[in-house]
Amino acid sequence: MSKYKVTLETNSVADTQCFGERLGHWVKQNGNPLCMALVGDLGTGKTHMSQGIAKGLGVTEEITSPTFSLMNTYMTLAGEIYHFDLYRMDDVSELENIGFYEFTEDQISIVEWADKFSDELPEETLWIRIVSIDEHARAITLKSDLIDHETLVEIGGIYVVGN
Ligand SMILES: Nc1ncnc2c1ncn2[C@@H]1O[C@H](COP(=O)(O)OP(=O)(O)OP(=O)(O)O)[C@@H](O)[C@H]1O
Ligand SMILES: [Mg+2]
Repeated sequence: MSKYKVTLETNSVADTQCFGERLGHWVKQNGNPLCMALVGDLGTGKTHMSQGIAKGLGVTEEITSPTFSLMNTYMTLAGEIYHFDLYRMDDVSELENIGFYEFTEDQISIVEWADKFSDELPEETLWIRIVSIDEHARAITLKSDLIDHETLVEIGGIYVVGN
């Protein structure tokens, strides 16, 4: 059970990306390392949200999901950011080989399918769960032990619907 929790709702891809951008911008301003763990069924919007987060962090190139490469790296003014997709990873020992622990603990990172290996993520992780409501709407739950409720509400902006 995480200490702090906020629920959001988006009604389009643009909304999801805009929320992601707000989050990325907050992380950039905050200046601390953070692991953002994205969880949700196939096609719920993890990669689209990652694109928004990356934009908010100052990545100018279009990012794609590292489904086959497992990890992509992007350079920003805030330093390098690390984007993982664990969908195709089967063995926990592979994480060490790609620098997963180092990057998620000490840098800014985004991890799609993070729930496949949830025990391997830092305690400070911001958990983001996306659930499809219908074709265009998504319920998004933010959970953290570190980022307090007030701050999560601030990051969520107009997309916040409840606790
Ligand atoms: N509110 C919304 N937010 C995000 N995506 C949405 C939304 N409404 C519809 N979509 C659609 O849902 C799909 C999300 O695709 P995306 O690749 O981001 O999902 P994913 O969770 O990364 O999937 P996968 O697990 O296969 O990598 C896209 O086709 C997008 O157009
Ligand atoms: Mg994806």
